[in-house]
Amino acid sequence: MTHPLEQLRDDALAQIASSPDEHVLEILRVKFLGRSGSVSEWSDKMKSLPKEEKPVVGKLLNEVRMAITAAIEGRAENFRAEKEAAAVANIDLSLPGTPHERGALHPLTQMLDRSIAIFRRMGFALAEGPDIETEWHCFDALNTPADHPARNEQDTFYLADGRLLRTHTSTVQIRTMELAPPPIRVIAPGAAYRRDEIDATHTTQFHQIEGLYVDENVSVADLKGTLEFFLRELFGADTAVRFRPHYFPFTEPSFEIDVKSSALKGGEQWVEVCGCGMVHPAVFEAVNQSRHDKAYDPEKWTGFAFGLGMDRLAMILFDIPDIRLFAQNDLRFLGQFP
Ligand code: DAH
Repeated sequence: MTHPLEQLRDDALAQIASSPDEHVLEILRVKFLGRSGSVSEWSDKMKSLPKEEKPVVGKLLNEVRMAITAAIEGRAENFRAEKEAAAVANIDLSLPGTPHERGALHPLTQMLDRSIAIFRRMGFALAEGPDIETEWHCFDALNTPADHPARNEQDTFYLADGRLLRTHTSTVQIRTMELAPPPIRVIAPGAAYRRDEIDATHTTQFHQIEGLYVDENVSVADLKGTLEFFLRELFGADTAVRFRPHYFPFTEPSFEIDVKSSALKGGEQWVEVCGCGMVHPAVFEAVNQSRHDKAYDPEKWTGFAFGLGMDRLAMILFDIPDIRLFAQNDLRFLGQFP
């Protein structure tokens, strides 16, 4: 004969198995296992049973409760799995994904990164100085006389307080030497500003890498070796480098450098890329004056300096026809430098 508890269990399991959804399952859980559900009722009934029946019925009641609990959990798990399967049923995993647009570094930044990496391999450290400068750092300390045309208001942006936007990064030569005694081996990438008429090759803001190397016995040979190595790394091993005598107030002798390479304009033309020279003793003296010492004794130390136009280098290397493109933020242009 089946015990009523066994009957209760069989009914419960049948109803749970045929419950259509979570909602009905919850109602069944309350009906069988809830505080006033059938199983709890049986717990109450236990108290009034004769002593000798208690262990047998108690054991049965426990088994029934466990069986019903397990059945409800199993059924709930079924519902969860069904739901998950339904959620992904309509996803076609073979469809192509939504593409993300890839950004890229600005061509000038790429040029800068490449250049800096080459100089780093030769032991150059990075230096910097402010874009708003004093006349002293931009001109006087660089041996540029008061009547030099570069100092003209037509060429330089002056602020009301007499300071100016640096017209070249050579200011950082002075800043660096004011801060530290020799030896010095630095490059200083940064912006420079001139009151130029804007056209395809001129903008009021452009970018340079300044270089300065001061040590004992530095010669023009070191200058040539360093810049030739840099230019060959940048433009390729077949790059020819030409040093042309030139004039800069802060170097003596001074040169302009031209290169010819199959990577540039079909390798047909000499292209000017850089100004450079041996640091003028008057520059060392000016630095000593602001340092109030003799750290840069021109009898003991010599050095070379150079200034590379980044915009210009990028234009010739990437064959960019108009310098204004760098600042126009036109994705049709920028997208060509992935
Ligand atoms: N400052 C110069 C310019 O802007 C470039 C230059 C020439 C820098 C010779 C140097 C140098 O350090 O030695 O045109």
